[in-house]
Amino acid sequence: MKPVILIGFMGAGKTTVGRELSRLLRVPLIDTDQYIEEKEGLSISELFGKYGEGWFRQRETQALVSLLEDGRDAVISCGGGLPLKEENRKLLKKAGRVVYLRIKPETVCERLRGDTSRPLLAGADAREKVSTLMKERESRYRAAADVTIDVDTLTAKETALRIAGWTGKIS
Ligand code: S3P
Repeated sequence: MKPVILIGFMGAGKTTVGRELSRLLRVPLIDTDQYIEEKEGLSISELFGKYGEGWFRQRETQALVSLLEDGRDAVISCGGGLPLKEENRKLLKKAGRVVYLRIKPETVCERLRGDTSRPLLAGADAREKVSTLMKERESRYRAAADVTIDVDTLTAKETALRIAGWTGKIS
């Protein structure tokens, strides 16, 4: 089985769906943000604060290369900005089956109300930021994906079951 790779906007549920899916497919879950946090010993917010977004984007690509070198069967949950670079999109496409968890801006705002772990949405006007970033990103998410699932009305379990069915591992 090739790795199943989950991409999409912050709040789309990549990590939660990843957890369900890894259980269903009986393969480990790898989360790129968690991997970077563990390697660097700092949270994503701390890394953005200390080194800035440009550094983080380079670190993401390095992390992706290391994780894919491993070549293990896995579910890989990617940070929301990871598929934005063409270099990363190529790596993802080559490595596995890429699933885009598509979510509406209003659902992101509902789900992330009160969340303080996303530096890109920190401060005032979170709604505005979500809608601007989403507009910038949508076409790149679609370009990276083999399949797209609209997740607004689905639970993480329902989404994971759809993906598992699609991979042909279970139906
Ligand atoms: C980001 C998404 C975050 C994290 C960082 C930047 C983004 O991951 O990588 O805060 O640019 O969309 P999640 O999508 O898991 O929240």
